[in-house]
Amino acid sequence: MSSLWTEDPRAVATYDTECAGRHDHDFYLALAAEVRARTVVDLGCGTGVFAVDLARRGFQAVGVDPAAAMLDVARTREDGDLPTWIHGTAADIPSGSADLVVMMGHVAQYFVEDQAWATTLAQVHRALADGGHLAFESRQPDRDWPARWTREHTEITHEHPDGGVFTAWGEIVEVVGTPSSFVETHVGHTDLPDGTHLEHAETLRFRSEDEIRTSLHEAGFAVENLWGDWDRSPVTATSDELIVLARRR
Ligand SMILES: C[S@@+](CC[C@H](N)C(=O)[O-])C[C@H]1O[C@@H](n2cnc3c(N)ncnc32)[C@H](O)[C@@H]1O
Repeated sequence: MSSLWTEDPRAVATYDTECAGRHDHDFYLALAAEVRARTVVDLGCGTGVFAVDLARRGFQAVGVDPAAAMLDVARTREDGDLPTWIHGTAADIPSGSADLVVMMGHVAQYFVEDQAWATTLAQVHRALADGGHLAFESRQPDRDWPARWTREHTEITHEHPDGGVFTAWGEIVEVVGTPSSFVETHVGHTDLPDGTHLEHAETLRFRSEDEIRTSLHEAGFAVENLWGDWDRSPVTATSDELIVLARRR
């Protein structure tokens, strides 16, 4: 089993297909306009759909990702020459260059260790101009994801960009921690049209709202808003998301 699906072009191609028509893009586009950002960095940009959307709307768009296979798709998509692409991490964003940094698609959950998360927040703080913003979302841990992320609940079938269909599903194989703050490892399975079966393990951190607020404060951010859903409703016991807008202090 290859450990990183983001480095496997076969898995990246199916991910890009699954990303079509995402609801969170409009949310972050509106936010970029509201905070009057000119330069927007999409940290963990993946296959680059959002960075290209930004650039088409006149923002200076920068897409950053450590996975070369993701950036290969980003660079070659339609209008993929409009953003600036950086193969790297937050540490590679020039200091003071960004008005807004976004981490969408639950990129924040890829920072499993507290030290990795704190380092990334410190690097984003350095990369932002005075008064710049950071926006991201993380799944609300209390929603019992282990019970929801089963093959039965996650299996989907899509058309494959090269023809035929593929079927993908995920299954949690390990959970460590408490219901309100935990680390889970799941295996993503994909059956490709040619009969190949892919398996990729991935480990994600589910932080509580308190942990997110405290880590942002310690990194020099003020939380301006914390929503529970893409319609900007507040966090409730049934919210799936913790959606954050923070400002560099
Ligand atoms: C689920 S994908 C989301 C991609 C894209 N943001 C989206 O919404 O479609 C997670 C992305 O986070 C990236 N990633 C993982 N570790 C990272 C790190 N340390 N810094 C920046 N990005 C990272 C992965 O390479 C991958 O592209």
